[in-house]
Amino acid sequence: MSREKDFVFNNSDKRILDNGNITGKSPSNIALVKYWGKSEPQIPKNASISFTLSNCFTITTLEYSKKGTLSKRQNINVIFEGEEKEEFKPKIEKFIERITNYVPFISDYDLVIRTENSFPHSSGIASSASGMSALAFCIMGIEKKLDPSIDQDYFLNKASFLSRLGSGSAARSIEGPIVVWGKHPKIENSSDLYGTIFPFKIHPVFENFQDTILLVDQGEKQISSTVGHNLMLGHPYAKSRFKQANQNLERLTEVLQSGDIKEFIQIVESEALALHAMMMTSDPYFILMKPNTLKIINKIWDFRKKTDLNICFTLDAGANVHVLFPKGEKGEAETFIRNELVSYCQNNKYICDNLGEGVENVI
Ligand code: DP6
Repeated sequence: MSREKDFVFNNSDKRILDNGNITGKSPSNIALVKYWGKSEPQIPKNASISFTLSNCFTITTLEYSKKGTLSKRQNINVIFEGEEKEEFKPKIEKFIERITNYVPFISDYDLVIRTENSFPHSSGIASSASGMSALAFCIMGIEKKLDPSIDQDYFLNKASFLSRLGSGSAARSIEGPIVVWGKHPKIENSSDLYGTIFPFKIHPVFENFQDTILLVDQGEKQISSTVGHNLMLGHPYAKSRFKQANQNLERLTEVLQSGDIKEFIQIVESEALALHAMMMTSDPYFILMKPNTLKIINKIWDFRKKTDLNICFTLDAGANVHVLFPKGEKGEAETFIRNELVSYCQNNKYICDNLGEGVENVI
């Protein structure tokens, strides 16, 4: 298992590349056991596990050019969907500052970051996981050019390590289809520093699992994840919540192998509600669900009771609902979603997604 110092690049020969660019495509992910609460530097308070998605992704091209010898300052430009975005710069600059210790070569270049998402802007889908992991992947592309001897495992672990420093959940987007992030006694090689692929054989019922994302509210979130995480410090239920999450991960580890989908549903839905319960009991308290989020949840429960199909929900830090179901139930699930759930979405919008494999190089 790698430690922090293993990720420091040795720049002793001071090689600087000519200008160039690297393009990476990285997906979003949806947590089954949630990460909510962290300490510096982006160390999770409990282990989490997620499905890597496929159709919700960010494509980023990183253009690097040797910094002029006279100018000390590094120029960083961020172009989002063709438009220069000043407002995205502080987050990226902070990220670059945080990772410079591990990729010191980055300060040799001026950077232009061109990025676009497959999902609509302000759809309420968090772009930080796909966005930060795509950028981290591109930066590792520069490292690989400087040191072609690094192997694939190191490349991926370090890409996840850098992603984490941009946004915690981004650490889980580099690989797929199921990733654990955070040290857990039952998952060998798991680490607080980077994500690792779920190391056991997954039961066929979970292969190619489906996630239909119902876009209930496409507006700006009133509380960012970072603020929410910080409210877990001193939260009255924090200690039991972190314990519960680690226990749920242990249960889920069994379930993902045995194929006990009924138990899967219990764990996943309970995790989603526990996450939102933490928000509702923070000081200050807040609610990210909307009335239609609850209507959808109730519809799913009614439908499950009536049909005994294995359709369940999870939530991230917002009002949108992720409807999860096995590939084998796709026909019935999609009919139900179209007929009974889509009317609760803003402008009837939803995205059909499924499990994926993580980052890819785009040539
Ligand atoms: C509710 O990864 O967005 O989606 O580390 O501050 O960038 P930062 O937070 P972020 O938090 C994700 C929270 C979550 C649960 C999860 O993905 O595990």
